[in-house]
Amino acid sequence: MAEPCTYVIFGATGNLSRIKLMPALYHLELEKMLPEGSRILAIGRRPWDQAKWLAEVKDMLTEKVREGIDEAVFQRFSERLYYHRGDINDPQCYTELSVALNDGARFPKNVAFYLAISPSEFGPVIELLSEVALLNEEYGWRRVIIEKPFGYDLESAQSLQKRIGRFLSEEQIYRIDHYLGKGMVQNVLVFRFANVMLEPLWNRNYIDHIQITHSEELGIDSRGQYYDDAGAMRDMLQSHLLQLMTLVAMEPPASMEAESLRDEKVKVLKSIRPIPKAAVHAHAFRAQYAKGTIDGKKVKGYLEEEHIPSTSITETYAAMKLFIDNWRWRGVPFYLRTGKRMAQAQSTISICFRHPPFQFFRDTHVQCMNPNWVLLGIQPEECIRIEMTVKEPGLEMRTRTSSLDASFRQDGEKQIDAYEDLLLDVMKGDRSLFLRFDEVEYAWRIVDPILQTWAMERDYIATYPAGSWGPLESKRLFEKESQHWRSSLKPEC
Ligand code: BG6
Repeated sequence: MAEPCTYVIFGATGNLSRIKLMPALYHLELEKMLPEGSRILAIGRRPWDQAKWLAEVKDMLTEKVREGIDEAVFQRFSERLYYHRGDINDPQCYTELSVALNDGARFPKNVAFYLAISPSEFGPVIELLSEVALLNEEYGWRRVIIEKPFGYDLESAQSLQKRIGRFLSEEQIYRIDHYLGKGMVQNVLVFRFANVMLEPLWNRNYIDHIQITHSEELGIDSRGQYYDDAGAMRDMLQSHLLQLMTLVAMEPPASMEAESLRDEKVKVLKSIRPIPKAAVHAHAFRAQYAKGTIDGKKVKGYLEEEHIPSTSITETYAAMKLFIDNWRWRGVPFYLRTGKRMAQAQSTISICFRHPPFQFFRDTHVQCMNPNWVLLGIQPEECIRIEMTVKEPGLEMRTRTSSLDASFRQDGEKQIDAYEDLLLDVMKGDRSLFLRFDEVEYAWRIVDPILQTWAMERDYIATYPAGSWGPLESKRLFEKESQHWRSSLKPEC
């Protein structure tokens, strides 16, 4: 059960809070999932009073909430909202915060601190919270939710961990990867471990390769400063896509309990074959979008975006090939790719099975036979499809691909945003969908050699027109002629 708590949001007036956190908390209110007495305390620098803050929150919610704002629900929600003015770099802010939170009549003693702030501020903010004893769990739990990226590379992640580890126990740290809160991502586990049919085939004997794609039509909006420093590898691959890969590849955990799940994910990350620096180009590819057209509208190239230096070689597209050296997966390539300003917004896991022997159809019209694919659509379309080859109706022996659709959402069943689930888990103290430090550490180990090589090669980056599926050259990652990027959930022929 979720316990009443005070959510203290650092960066409450920023982008993440606006588009994700406040809408998610409102939806929890709507669903009556916020425990009685819970409060939400926003911290911001602006000189706003309560009325101005409520108006601001309403404005945040207007565009984002499902089926529009319900006035009665908003009224209930607004009774939980408070605004605390302060500069998060100033120790005075924390002294005042501590006085405010000690008002037991107003704020529950359990406190979750949500750090929706820039990564360079994580360490200092935690230190300042500790100085005023706000991380002390004497009277109630204290949990800290840390947004990604956790560190900038392996070394900085380790030093951040060392720094915050002086003030927080591992049980108090909730490293968020919002992909783990997505309904369909959790469904990957159910699909694999609640059905017996595919398990015998889920290995190197039957699977040719696996692809994980996350593509976006959107560019970088107003996030230029952050993005140019991060790039697609840090922003998406090191975190979200590697997490998806662990779920597809891991062994059945002993239970759904957090540590069992995380142990299995770590085993996968540990077994990923390290990429030697000399082989980076055989395993990874990067590119940047140039101007192009999306949905009939002309859009700028990356270098023309706000806050982007004209000489930037930051990648907006990244792809990599990985191998897991264990009994189940040895020799099966995993291809991961992500890009901004691509032809279509989509997150999909595509599992390609081996080709059947052709011999039986030798003397027929069957010229080519597609392999079986299992497609797990994560967004926007949530689906599970299995592609099979069937005979076309008619006198001749011709085949086509037919798709068995196990899509699961029934009419009227709502799609819940990942943050709703995760914010609730923090209140319940369930860390299974949050990252343990060793997961983060192993993920950095995998991508660090690529990032280091790319950082040295500063004079060239491939480009692709906005609105395309990325550069054709990225196909050099494929191990075999027959492999190609799968971009559609519809049968290919
Ligand atoms: C974030 C990245 O973590 O995930 C963004 O920083 C990206 O660049 C976003 O757009 C994608 O998340 P979703 O839920 O929209 O697929």
